[in-house]
Amino acid sequence: MPLLLLPMVFSDFDEIIAQTRTAPVGNDLVANPVPTCWPVKDQESAHARAKWHLERQRERFLQDKTAFYLKVVDTDDNFNIAGIARWHYYPEGYSFETHGHWEKSNWDTSVDTTAWNWELHDRILELRDRSRESWMLPAKSPCWILTHLVTLPEQRGRGVGKMLVQWGMECAVKSGLKAYLEAGVMGMDLYARWGFGTVGEAILIKDSYGQVLFQMAKMVYPTK
Ligand SMILES: CC(C)(COP(=O)(O)OP(=O)(O)OC[C@H]1O[C@@H](n2cnc3c(N)ncnc32)[C@H](O)[C@@H]1OP(=O)(O)O)[C@@H](O)C(=O)NCCC(=O)NCCS
Repeated sequence: MPLLLLPMVFSDFDEIIAQTRTAPVGNDLVANPVPTCWPVKDQESAHARAKWHLERQRERFLQDKTAFYLKVVDTDDNFNIAGIARWHYYPEGYSFETHGHWEKSNWDTSVDTTAWNWELHDRILELRDRSRESWMLPAKSPCWILTHLVTLPEQRGRGVGKMLVQWGMECAVKSGLKAYLEAGVMGMDLYARWGFGTVGEAILIKDSYGQVLFQMAKMVYPTK
């Protein structure tokens, strides 16, 4: 079944949201840390989560000039979207002051917060983004950053993730720049296999007892 890498278009976001009305719970394209901070048990909450998340991505698609949204479709399966990624090109390097606002949840009172831990979500992303200027060195130099990567669970292991990551790796090589990412537990080994190297200590988000709630490895490509 041939896979094809394409830029996302505006209507893709609504298509992805709509799929969560019928797909098995959790078989969606919601990227971490949202699933960690908003676990879902039924179709209604899975749809609410996807709607919240993907509508924000749609807004960013229109407004954030640094963002490149990509999808991999299965040409033998009605061009259904198997995975998506968001790469960024920062021509003046990443600046938390300029770009940090994008990741705030802007908590919406219409969302049921019994399951949605938006404070943890904002804490994870703020720590991730604030630390960038300390390890994506030299600070404020042009770079590529991968911030969103997810393949539908039923499509995993077919090379979708690799296609989405390699797009940005090739951009980095062609432009003579570095590509960076903060890898969750599921992605770390894959990125290392694909050529990324780890930089320094992992970013750890802990609760008040010191227990690790979320961790991210800081990674760079190429390593030299
Ligand atoms: C991480 C993730 C994006 C990988 O996507 P994917 O489309 O399965 O990735 P690929 O198929 O390109 O690569 C998976 C690798 O595992 C291997 N693999 C083998 N069997 C597999 C299986 N059953 N499931 C997954 N991977 C398998 C593949 O061969 C491939 O190895 P290779 O790079 O040596 O060829 C996907 O697991 C995911 O969406 N996870 C949840 C979100 C997440 O954690 N995102 C990353 C945040 S940093």
